[in-house]
Amino acid sequence: MKWIMARDYTDMSRKAANIVSAQVLLKEDSVLGLATGSTPIGLYKQLIAWQHKDDISFDKVTTVNLDEYRNLSPEDPQSYRHFMNEQFFSQIDIRMENTNVPNSCCADVMRECLRYDAMIENRGGIDLQLIGIGNNGHIGFNEPGEAFIMETHLVDLSPTTIKANARFFDGDEQKVPKQAITMGIKHIMQAKRLLLVASGNAKMEVVKKALSGPVTPRVPASILQLHKDLTVVCCPDA
Ligand code: PGA
Repeated sequence: MKWIMARDYTDMSRKAANIVSAQVLLKEDSVLGLATGSTPIGLYKQLIAWQHKDDISFDKVTTVNLDEYRNLSPEDPQSYRHFMNEQFFSQIDIRMENTNVPNSCCADVMRECLRYDAMIENRGGIDLQLIGIGNNGHIGFNEPGEAFIMETHLVDLSPTTIKANARFFDGDEQKVPKQAITMGIKHIMQAKRLLLVASGNAKMEVVKKALSGPVTPRVPASILQLHKDLTVVCCPDA
């Protein structure tokens, strides 16, 4: 496990973007596992800037996102597909057909989960998986208590997650979807490299607790201790 302590959010974003950029430079057809949330926005901005300077190209890259709220259409401004299109994909030279987010509006969730897992496997697995962490230690939407062996599946979001994410829904917990489709811990752990980003003192505490305490499904991120190539980039409060 490698820890990189950044000075501030901008520094964290640039350092993490360097790691993603190096991955793509060394393997132009990399499969990148991507994350949503407020933490990676600066990282995406930095990658966009480098792509516009022609320092990097995503033309041959495939992306697979960790999760999507249940029943939010790609056009819904709160959907993670919309977030990724707005914050990243529409601003770089990636081919949209090579970007993947679970289709949470599907009628048959089980089938969609199997399709998503097969898609990841058909692409040879994930080369580098970017991960944020929830206040409760979740990764993706793998909430406390879920088995580590899970593949892509439907989850009931925990009250802590619903509360934390209400900030994206006018502060109204009632508006937050109660379920999501998430990549399971199994595929996250099978990624060749993991990059965990955490911004602010509170999140750093969660990361420290997860990575230095016992490995337990009660703290989903604790499993990351067992990955052979994990890099953590974090920064304190401004
Ligand atoms: P955040 O979310 O980046 O918005 O803090 C991370 C997460 O909940 O996984």
